[in-house]
Amino acid sequence: MTETQGIFIHPQRKINGEITVPGDKSISHRAALFGGMAQGKTHITNFLPGQDCLSTLSCLKELGVTWERHETELWIEGQGLENWTEPQDILDVGNSGTSLRLFLGILAGSPFSSTLTGDGSIRMRPMKRVTGPLVQMGAKILGRQEGNFAPLTIRGGDLKGGNFQTPVASAQVKSAILLAGLRARGETTVLEPALSRDHTERMLRGFGVEVLSEGTQVKINGGGRLNGQDVSVPGDISSAAFFLVLGSLMPKGELLLRNVGVNPTRTGILDVLLKMGADIQLENYAEVCGEPRADLRVRPAELHGIEIRGEIIPRLIDEVPVLAVAASLAKGETVIRDAAELRVKESDRIKTVAEGLKSLGADIEELLDGMRISGKPRLLGGQAQSHNDHRLAMAWTIAGLLSENGVSLEGIEAAHVSFPEFLPSIRKLTRA
Ligand code: S3P
Repeated sequence: MTETQGIFIHPQRKINGEITVPGDKSISHRAALFGGMAQGKTHITNFLPGQDCLSTLSCLKELGVTWERHETELWIEGQGLENWTEPQDILDVGNSGTSLRLFLGILAGSPFSSTLTGDGSIRMRPMKRVTGPLVQMGAKILGRQEGNFAPLTIRGGDLKGGNFQTPVASAQVKSAILLAGLRARGETTVLEPALSRDHTERMLRGFGVEVLSEGTQVKINGGGRLNGQDVSVPGDISSAAFFLVLGSLMPKGELLLRNVGVNPTRTGILDVLLKMGADIQLENYAEVCGEPRADLRVRPAELHGIEIRGEIIPRLIDEVPVLAVAASLAKGETVIRDAAELRVKESDRIKTVAEGLKSLGADIEELLDGMRISGKPRLLGGQAQSHNDHRLAMAWTIAGLLSENGVSLEGIEAAHVSFPEFLPSIRKLTRA
């Protein structure tokens, strides 16, 4: 994926039909990692074959884990963590922050050296929030600016548990500490400022490990063992979000999104869109493998602006780019605050979203920790850039479909990170 690809997104007046969005990225990473850590076979269905999760798989292979994948089905021959071997080469996580941070947590207890790196964006993302606690637990980590930036070399060892208070509500940080805690002496607790996604806690329980959650605190004891499992991954609500906004703002049509994960730590986008006036219905709710899922039916609605801040932010952090598109076409003002974390995502998403939407005709102002958007009846369209950020590539596609004149988009291939079938899904729904 070195060449950037330019496409033109033609405006539409109607969208119709049903799709099954791909497997959840966060849950797919964890299923592969935990399958590789477990004793016994793990079988995963609806695994996301997006670039990020494929990076996790190739790093697992470098560490001696045997797996076989056929499209969205994955089989892992778990031999337990004791059988992971020192990698012969650098582990390349590509664009994937989840891979980098979760591998660091796991490798903190492995008695060998590994060096991890990734693309230009990954090498600029802050890692001290993970490497700090891991070093405190007993791992040796070297990297630029005292272990804040990849490439990072980690030599794991004898770990001791501890109590950690994270500065940000981040599931990657929480998960890295818990995974190290699993191999540490004694008890490890993580206290977050607000609850971040809890897929690690739910799935560890599914693999047979005791994890205690109380409010925003999680506790794990060292020495727990994972047993291979069957895991069915729900569809990714972060991928569904693009269609929730599209179906809400398209003048005509109805969309049905099947089998979408509706874990309450991820449904901030639903709460916000409903509060903005969206017509979204949940059907066929079920809980499978500890993760709730449902079909989502979306019909056109008139949206109005709202204020989004505080504890809901971690529950919708990845959806802000497309939410900003929705706000730019909603009636009145939308203010997003307490979201400074957006500045250290795949791109500085406060800056890239505000500049990108402004150039498409939106009335948007960048704030230090968020943005202020005054909705307009129309978005003119124009030129847009993905900045190699998958969620921007898809948000600008949605903006183009909803615009007056269309959007000429550079870098759509970034969507492969989390949603390889994004454009075919759009084509299917606009043809119907
Ligand atoms: C993720 C956690 C979030 C999210 C990312 C996936 C995960 O990041 O933005 O896309 O799978 O744990 P942070 O933990 O940095 O908030």
